[in-house]
Amino acid sequence: MMQEPLSFAHAFSNVPGLPKHGEALFALRRLEHGYRELAHEHGFTEVNLPLVAPLARFRSLLTRENLLGDGPRFIDPQGLEWALRSDMTAFAVQFVLDHMSEVKLPARIAYAGKVFAYDKGTGTEQAGARHAQLHLNLGLGSDSSLESWEFGAEILGEGEIHADLEVLSLASATARRFGLGRLTLVVGDARIARALFAATETHAAPSERAGLLQALRKAFATGDRHRFDELFASHPFLAEASASLSTKAVDTFLAAVRERHDDLDVRFDPWSRRTQDFYSGITFEIFAQDAVGKLRWLGGGGRYDTYFSHFGHDVPAVGFMMKDPSSVLERDSVTKGATSRVRVALPKGRLLKTALAALAEVGIVPETDPEATRRLVIPSRCGEYEFLLVKNTDVGSYLDHGMADFAIVGSDVLDEGALQVVRPVTFTFGRCKICLAGKPGGAERLRWRRRPRVATKYERLAEEALRLRGLSFDVIPLQGSVELASVIDLADAIVDLVETGSTLRENGLVVYEDLGLTRVHLACTRGFHYLHGARVDSWRTAWENSGLVEKGTSS
Ligand code: PRP
Repeated sequence: MMQEPLSFAHAFSNVPGLPKHGEALFALRRLEHGYRELAHEHGFTEVNLPLVAPLARFRSLLTRENLLGDGPRFIDPQGLEWALRSDMTAFAVQFVLDHMSEVKLPARIAYAGKVFAYDKGTGTEQAGARHAQLHLNLGLGSDSSLESWEFGAEILGEGEIHADLEVLSLASATARRFGLGRLTLVVGDARIARALFAATETHAAPSERAGLLQALRKAFATGDRHRFDELFASHPFLAEASASLSTKAVDTFLAAVRERHDDLDVRFDPWSRRTQDFYSGITFEIFAQDAVGKLRWLGGGGRYDTYFSHFGHDVPAVGFMMKDPSSVLERDSVTKGATSRVRVALPKGRLLKTALAALAEVGIVPETDPEATRRLVIPSRCGEYEFLLVKNTDVGSYLDHGMADFAIVGSDVLDEGALQVVRPVTFTFGRCKICLAGKPGGAERLRWRRRPRVATKYERLAEEALRLRGLSFDVIPLQGSVELASVIDLADAIVDLVETGSTLRENGLVVYEDLGLTRVHLACTRGFHYLHGARVDSWRTAWENSGLVEKGTSS
């Protein structure tokens, strides 16, 4: 006789911690089940992708192309290196390669499961790996920054646009099944980045190649049109490479999607780029509105026709992934703290006055003077906005977690956090240099000391800039008054911002080398950028007219 099912609470009452996670766990399983049914209805076969793969499978490709994502790697007791699943597509390709003799092309495969990737902003590799070990076998929902849940599908062996549209149909049907509202699809074209990278390889002087490739990657990561303008002006071969690209494939794709999908808001953004290098053609990012009407990133996909050729096969391919939608559904903790007001993160400190003055020009004025209160959240007079008063270095975290919609902040903060936020406006005020500096005569010593000690607030920026210059060093991380480290010989040099130069001068220090420029931006989440682009454009025009933004740098 069949037993009656137990209630969840009864079944797991003796398992510590489970009731807390239980609802989330079952909610996720329900989504997974719904996705499976849907994928099946759409003609896809479900596959179970392995959680780990030998790193050697990817090794030869890692230097050239970022095929694996930024995920944890392990060495087993026999000394074999393993990669934990950080990108479903990379593992799907490995799965198909493993079963090449049995797979009949074209193949439609679908999957759901966890991926593990480092938290870009804060997670170190060590911490990430430990975390992964702890969570690997728990099977409890996506409750850490390292692990997240993904749904996805691939069509392998079809090079025509109808396969792209099929993948999109499954993506939008999945969103509907998950109870999400209308989706926004931001279309990009991987050929643009590829053409710019190729032109750099061919035309850039060997000494500047690595730096230029890094600058291009940054420009794509930030959507900062100003950076492209500058790079195109200083390297005309980049402008030529970009201008010579045909827009036909994009136009055809946009027209086809619009004709077939009136449930999608579609737009083209040439500067949006999926970060994985394996994409070869049309790419797309999927956004959905959350419970308070804010647009949040949900997933993406695109064509990767050349990926299999690295393994000796000619298999055109297209796919999509979507993360666990709880981040955009009402029950998620992020949206619990959310508001339909537009949130502006403002850095306390030397930028505050100027930033407030810029915002006042476009009618955004705090109800109380932030400098005369200890309140951390201040509504705007018009009630439509809300100011968050945060420490300079924390601005990026608020944007990254979608808790602030936009901010006025320095590129130093954004670059240090490696944040995927858009910078549609670059102000004329607040420009600084980022410099390697120290005591007079100390520059030479940096070269002959085996590992000089460099004090800085900007570990990532220092690492990037000094590595390009062939200097290996030990970092002494500091939070402020960095010059002091050089003055009292805690460090051999510092990497820090120089605005007027008076801090260096008054402490008897000199600049050894300029490492780059920093600027102040209006930075916003990608969701805000796509939903309120027209509003940002009107602000930019106002700021151009008052000289706060240079004319002609519009996106
Ligand atoms: C910044 C920077 C330098 C100083 C440079 O520090 O880190 O210390 O300004 O400016 P100057 O060239 O005009 O002298 P900030 O004032 O933000 O404070 P901090 O040292 O506490 O970080």
